[in-house]
Amino acid sequence: MKIIETISELREQLDEARSEGKRIGLVPTMGYFHEGHLSLMEAARAETDLVVTSIFVNPLQFGPREDFDGYPRDFARDSMLAEKVGVDLIFQPSVGEMYPEGATTTLDVGRIGEIVEGAIRPGHFNGVATVCTKLFNIAQPHKAFFGQKDAQQLSVIRKVVRDLAMNIDIVDCPTVREADGLAMSSRNVYLTSDDRKAAPALAEALFSASALVQEGARSAASIKACVRERLSQESSVKLQYVEVTEENGFEPVENISGRLVVSIAAFIGTTRLIDNVRVDVGTGKPA
Ligand code: PAF
Repeated sequence: MKIIETISELREQLDEARSEGKRIGLVPTMGYFHEGHLSLMEAARAETDLVVTSIFVNPLQFGPREDFDGYPRDFARDSMLAEKVGVDLIFQPSVGEMYPEGATTTLDVGRIGEIVEGAIRPGHFNGVATVCTKLFNIAQPHKAFFGQKDAQQLSVIRKVVRDLAMNIDIVDCPTVREADGLAMSSRNVYLTSDDRKAAPALAEALFSASALVQEGARSAASIKACVRERLSQESSVKLQYVEVTEENGFEPVENISGRLVVSIAAFIGTTRLIDNVRVDVGTGKPA
């Protein structure tokens, strides 16, 4: 496994692979790997010939009061884990390499970036879209792999690829959960042991919501009430939002039909976590 820090070296390596007819899979990450990241790399390994994982904590997607400086980082552990699952190249650029002085061009994804999670984190999805577009331009992968855990991010990336006619297949992979349901996230490391005990309530609330759809509930209001009710039982959990949206534009809906996403954001103590379930009104099961 090679570790590459510059755009020019990565391009050189990937041009060579492409000229040999290899299909390139890209897994964009901010590092501090958990099973969720590794499942994306495994999917890329299974579906493409050369797997590149980028590790870049992207300043553009963090708000001024967010955790950019404190975001967990452990490159030695990450590279060991990536090698184990068969990653070929790690691309670990510096901030200066990705955003050289004078680089002021960014993407604006419009409304999808301003609603639900985007309403709480202004500019976040524009930052994600900008860095992913840049990574796509650098690596020109055949496929790029993202987790369903960040469902709105996934919709944003699909929209960018569609809107800008990028020739990339976006592959989404299921959320990986701890045995008690807690969705894996690099930010879980912030949880105190008491927070950690309360944290599975998020997944439980979402699974109850999905069960309610399965039982025939058809109003978003009843789904949201169910989530609120479950989370109100945990004193250390402060729900920031629960929203029921369609999958593509992430527009909130009032009535349940088709494929939808139930998303939540909550503070557990001082740690902010997000999670979601997809529901399909055909089955009501997590889709
Ligand atoms: O999901 C993440 O880790 C980040 O948002 C991503 C897609 C790597 C862009 O920085």
